[in-house]
Formats: sequence, C-alpha cells, structure tokens
Amino acid sequence: MKKMTLNKLLRSQGFGPRRVCEQMIVDGRVSVSGEVVTDYGASLEPESLLIEVDGQPWVCREYIYVVLNKPADYECSRKPSHHPGVLSLLPSLFSARNTQPVGRLDHDTTGMLLLSDDGTFIHRQSSPKHHVPKTYEATTHEPVTPELIAILLSGVKLKDEPKPLAALSCRQLDSHRVEVVLEQGKYHQVKRMLAATGHHCDALVRTAIGKLRLEHLDLQQGNWCFLNDAQLSLLAPSAVSE
Ligand code: URA
Repeated sequence: MKKMTLNKLLRSQGFGPRRVCEQMIVDGRVSVSGEVVTDYGASLEPESLLIEVDGQPWVCREYIYVVLNKPADYECSRKPSHHPGVLSLLPSLFSARNTQPVGRLDHDTTGMLLLSDDGTFIHRQSSPKHHVPKTYEATTHEPVTPELIAILLSGVKLKDEPKPLAALSCRQLDSHRVEVVLEQGKYHQVKRMLAATGHHCDALVRTAIGKLRLEHLDLQQGNWCFLNDAQLSLLAPSAVSE
C-alpha cells in the first residue's frame, strides 16, 4: 500500500465518504498507533498500521481476505431473499469495502466460505481455469455404497452439462457420509451428483478449499478470521493481488 493521507486511508478502509472521515478526524475520534491525530492531511504508511476509531481498533489492510464458517440458513447472495445474508455475520466495514463471498454455498450448506474485496483474488478462486479443488462432506439419506463412490469417480451426466462431471477424489467416511473433492463449482453440484445416483443429500459441509482445511482454523459456526499469508498460499499459488 502506498503512503497516503489519514483521510484517504480511512476512506480506503471503509469508514465512509471523504467529508465524514474528515469530520471524524477533526473531532478527535481517530488515533494512529495510540496517538489522537486531528490533521486529516497527515501522511502515513498504511500497511498494517493500527488505528482506532471511537476506541475501536482496526489494522489497515489493502485487501480483506477472510474465511467464514458458514452456518445453515444464511444466503451468500448480496441481496438475500429468504434468509439473512452471510455479510450480516461480518463487521459492517467489510460491506462498506464491497467485500463479497467468493462463489456460493447453498443456504443449507455449512462450512468454509471465503470473502474478499480483492477482485483479482475472487476471479482466480472462482474461475474454472484455476482449478481450486473444494472438499465437501455429504451426509446421505441412503447408505453409502461402493457403487456410489465408483460412479462419482467415473462421472455423472447432469442436466444442462455437456459432459459428465467426475469427482477428483471420493471416499466413504462412515455408513452415511462421503467426502467428495470437486474441481468444478457447478450449481448444486454435490447434491445433483448424489441425486443422479439415487442418493439424497441430508447435509453438506465444505471442509477444505485447496489445501486449507476448516479443521485447522478452529472456527465455530458463524465465526470468521482473517487469513494470513501462509493460509492464503494453501488456497492456490499466487492467489492474492501483489
Ligand atoms: N454443491 C452443492 O450441492 N451445494 C453447495 O452449496 C456446494 C456444492
């Protein structure tokens, strides 16, 4: 991040339009590294700078990369219709910065959901060209059988898809649970692939994206965390904007 004025920095972090930020600074509501700064033209090195607004700490970042452990009954859409949106689980500053879910999970699917305001990152993560594998654990109504695993691995023809879609890998976890790794992210893909084999999906959890696993993040459902560089590099090589 380039050097910038305090006013511009607050705007870039999502604290509001220029005049609102100027007024917050002049009113003495903003401190930088523990000192109140009332000069909105003060020039600063923003990356990782600790500021406080009304006593609330905020570490400045050029882009936001977070992972949410999505609970059921939240929608990934920016204009949710039947359930609250996932953005309601995150600080309002994130929405002000145009942070968006990277791809979508169904309202009843739980688990790992990435969110970011870095357009390049969102594109790389969601683009089929970049092949970021996603791992799901599906609970099936009917018992898991060796045939189910074999069919998911060999490919299933879904309506409106020109070619059969196959899992990258697939293994039985217990009598009614199967782990499926997919390279594509087609609409309702896991549920539709299971349905095509006569299995109804009772519950679906996304447990990993690339090599980043939910179990290593220690996140309760509904909680989120920022991703550090090491975690970001597990998603895919050079995932983030330089
Ligand atoms: N596949 C599905 O069927 N639903 C999801 O939410 C994700 C993958």
